[in-house]
Amino acid sequence: MPQGLSRRRRGLIGGLLLALPCVLAGPDPALDPERVARGELVLRAAGCAACHTDPEDPEAFLAGGRALETPFGTFHAPNITPDPEHGIGRWRVHDLDHALRHGRAPDGSAYFPVLPFTSYTRMSTEDLAALWAYLVTRPAVSRPNRPHDLPWWLRWRGLATLWQWLYFDAERFEPDPKRDARWNRGAYLVEALAHCAECHSPRTWLGAIDEGRRFAGTRSGPEGKPVPNITPDRETGIGRWSVSDLAYYLETGMDPDGDFAGGLMAEVIDSGIGHLPPEDLEAIAVYILSLPPIRHAVDSGSEDQRDEFD
Ligand code: HEC
Ligand code: HEC
Repeated sequence: MPQGLSRRRRGLIGGLLLALPCVLAGPDPALDPERVARGELVLRAAGCAACHTDPEDPEAFLAGGRALETPFGTFHAPNITPDPEHGIGRWRVHDLDHALRHGRAPDGSAYFPVLPFTSYTRMSTEDLAALWAYLVTRPAVSRPNRPHDLPWWLRWRGLATLWQWLYFDAERFEPDPKRDARWNRGAYLVEALAHCAECHSPRTWLGAIDEGRRFAGTRSGPEGKPVPNITPDRETGIGRWSVSDLAYYLETGMDPDGDFAGGLMAEVIDSGIGHLPPEDLEAIAVYILSLPPIRHAVDSGSEDQRDEFD
């Protein structure tokens, strides 16, 4: 036993000695360029830039100010540049973990689910570390946050705590061993990062995703606008699209009829998933087209439906 102990101690001292030169001289290994580059892909896949950058002031990248209208009021996504006063300059990586995977601020108070932690909770630890490396190496922008514009009864964060208690469990992504690597990559991108279901599903009156119609579209999505059904239902969804049709749409915004994505989907593509490598977009398409088809007509969906509503 004592021998084992001393061996462990020797190992520890050896490890410290090896780590010492990096601490003293080299750049922080947590911020190596490869990790930062991976972090940018995580940020693109997760669509952080679309909410946290003011479209009126794209130069102030990630400095917040984007107004997000919801049935509960207007939220303003805060500054997440490394500015110590207005941004996350005083945060540590575990604060980002708490925010994105647990929905909690550094002081323990709850975030509202307009920050889609309900999806990000499935983010891998590696991707979280990469995202952190990317965020802290961005230029700090000293831009004050705009307060949310909420009815008085929602200004109390206890309601966000209650919401989380009712509808949120922190969890990790579990790959399905019965599926291949490409399907699992697609499932991870869609369910953990790209949060497609957050826009493409109807919600209950308390703002939780209606799980029985996940991905089946909604008449009143973000900004009160309709969002199409993206399950592979042939009549009301995208069941007539091929994997390459969908991958091409996610890269360029052009659908199989030659029409271009508008509104929020154009933003999702331009500032987000359009930056992903083709194999990731194909993986997303494979996963989405493997979902169970759900018949649910949303008024701005396919041509057939438009005819119905015209
Ligand atoms: C749909 C819009 C949206 C998306 C997408 C989004 N956020 Fe946010 N984020 C918000 C809003 C709104 C808040 C404020 C929530 C609150 O006050 O309860 C927020 C809060 C935060 C905070 C807390 C900041 C603070 O000062 O307390 C961090 C950090 C953050 N987001 C980082 C990210 C990152 C990183 C991503 C991508 C992985 C991301 N967000 C994606 C809207 C969004
Ligand atoms: C911020 C909300 C939002 C997110 C996140 C989002 N979408 Fe969309 N999506 C929309 C809206 C809004 C439209 C309608 C666009 C239009 O009017 O051209 C749309 C349209 C589409 C369409 C076209 C469907 C059709 O019938 O024409 C597809 C396919 C699609 N989205 C797939 C996805 C996938 C896959 C993801 C995740 C990788 C995703 N979307 C994430 C809001 C979103």
